[in-house]
Amino acid sequence: MRKVTIMDHPLIRHKIGIIRDQKTGTKEFREMVGEIAMLECFESTRDLQLEDVEVKTPIAATTVKRLAGKKLAIVPILRAGLGMVPGMQTLIPSAKVGHIGMYRDPETLKPVEYYCKLPADVEERDVFVVDPMLATGGSAIDAISQLKKHGCKNIRFLCIIAAPAGLEALQKAHPDVDITVGALDDHLDEHGYIVPGLGDAGDRIFGTK
Ligand code: PRP
Ligand code: URA
Repeated sequence: MRKVTIMDHPLIRHKIGIIRDQKTGTKEFREMVGEIAMLECFESTRDLQLEDVEVKTPIAATTVKRLAGKKLAIVPILRAGLGMVPGMQTLIPSAKVGHIGMYRDPETLKPVEYYCKLPADVEERDVFVVDPMLATGGSAIDAISQLKKHGCKNIRFLCIIAAPAGLEALQKAHPDVDITVGALDDHLDEHGYIVPGLGDAGDRIFGTK
């Protein structure tokens, strides 16, 4: 079983408090999602490999660390995952971006895939799957299964809010995936919404309701 990190950093807790508030408008919501994604990206890249490089400072020769040239990819689950991409790109700007489109059937709560476009060499990359909400876990589980079908071996999942049931289901389905969670909430309501949560992340990011 790989690592699950529940973020407890005060900046993340503060920013998640802002996006939970129903009074927060689209512009600030989107900005906060981007900033939270950046902070989670910082944490989830903690184990990237480094290599030694010789440089000369203005004073002396020295050995410095540099990222070992590992290829990375960011894969948002559409729509809401798109909100996390700019924050991720702030820290890993040369990562390629793939897209997996999924929506949850409102009756069955099962994910329906409607789009998949991935970098041609995705199987060679460390992949960061991003989606603000992990509710039943169905969307994340299916998106990661799709990436594995494309040959991906090193996959991490980052979300902002998770329900305990979704986190457990994702760990069970994909025990080889590191998971970074902004906040672990209480439960799911009868419509599959996270409680207390923040409502429908896609609608709040794109202002569609
Ligand atoms: C939301 C969210 C996740 C999914 C989580 O997407 O962004 O993808 O629900 O639920 P699950 O863990 O139960 O699968 P939604 O289906 O609302 O689509 P949208 O992002 O296009 O609004
Ligand atoms: N998707 C959302 O956007 N919000 C939830 O609470 C659950 C699923």
